Amino acid sequence: MDKDILILAIESSCDETAAAVVKNGRQIVSNIIFSQVPLHTLYGGVVPEIASRKHIEKINQVIEEALRDAGCGLREMDAIAVTYGPGLVGPLLVGVSAAKAISFATGIPLVGVHHIEGHISANYIENKDLEPPFVCLVASGGHSHLVVVKDYGQYEIIGRTRDDAAGEAFDKVARAIGLGYPGGPKIDKIAKTGNPEAIYFPRAKVGENEFDFSFSGLKSAVLNYLNACRMKGEEVCTEDVAASFQQAVVEVLVEHALNAVKQYGYDKFAIAGGVASNSALRAAMQKGCDREGIRFFYPSPILCTDNAAMIGTAGYYEFIKGKRSGLDLNAVPNLKL
Ligand code: KG4
Ligand code: ZN
Repeated sequence: MDKDILILAIESSCDETAAAVVKNGRQIVSNIIFSQVPLHTLYGGVVPEIASRKHIEKINQVIEEALRDAGCGLREMDAIAVTYGPGLVGPLLVGVSAAKAISFATGIPLVGVHHIEGHISANYIENKDLEPPFVCLVASGGHSHLVVVKDYGQYEIIGRTRDDAAGEAFDKVARAIGLGYPGGPKIDKIAKTGNPEAIYFPRAKVGENEFDFSFSGLKSAVLNYLNACRMKGEEVCTEDVAASFQQAVVEVLVEHALNAVKQYGYDKFAIAGGVASNSALRAAMQKGCDREGIRFFYPSPILCTDNAAMIGTAGYYEFIKGKRSGLDLNAVPNLKL
């Protein structure tokens, strides 16, 4: 029997300090996530400098815990996979420096991983039979991409946001209706008791590329609605605003994604990124895929938001292809897929 391949993975691109041990690409042996969300909630969003400092404080602890949970020693690891971009430069540097230090001290090979490739790869963990090619919608706090996954590590971006990312729109609207950070899960929760048909917010059409997205107009429409209500002295039903806004985002994401799957002729579709844990989006995507005869894949919510297991999975496929990073690996905040 072939030897198992164990990857120690590290993720620190935003506000989660995370480490994991992943076996043979698709099996989580341990998955430790220290979320800084409660800290940043105080400021209404992620404060990069505070995030960097917290990552420094937590990174070694999280790595040790991941190894302890896995019952493994560092020397059993075949590679160290680390997110090196895109993301916040300070936070990224903490993970990259930790990974390089371990690699230098132990001689274990280093593999730099693209954060978005990690999000997409989260789908492989629980869907053991999912193989490329397929179309994936990546919707997170920083990205809204429609991606054709041609093969492991081979991607073509066919649609992207022209302005705000979907998660960013959730966060901004949540702030405007007084829910605070992070907006996505809070809107998701209160929208369940609101009426999605109560207020009609515009669904943006974007010029030449029918797969591109735009969410800033929708965000402005919500802000205008709230201002108009305040000026007229009308009470705002936050549940209805949340549900109507969410419905507008979900409709656009579903329409663009399913059109892309059909036009490109694939029969498999996956979602990834923090917004992929949205309950209304998951339900609408499932319904649309069932109607069109498309197989629909999605990760558990804990694997949708930032985690290191997904980096371990992406790192595994890069590692077995022979990718190795040098000790000159640097954080690349605007890294392209
Ligand atoms: O993937 P992620 O953890 O970090 C980035 O790479 O950006 O995504 C975080 C984003 C935040 O904007 C958050 O509000 C959004 O994902 N999010 C959600 C939900 N859970 C997280 N958006 C909508 N519904 C949710 N349930
Ligand atoms: Zn992310």
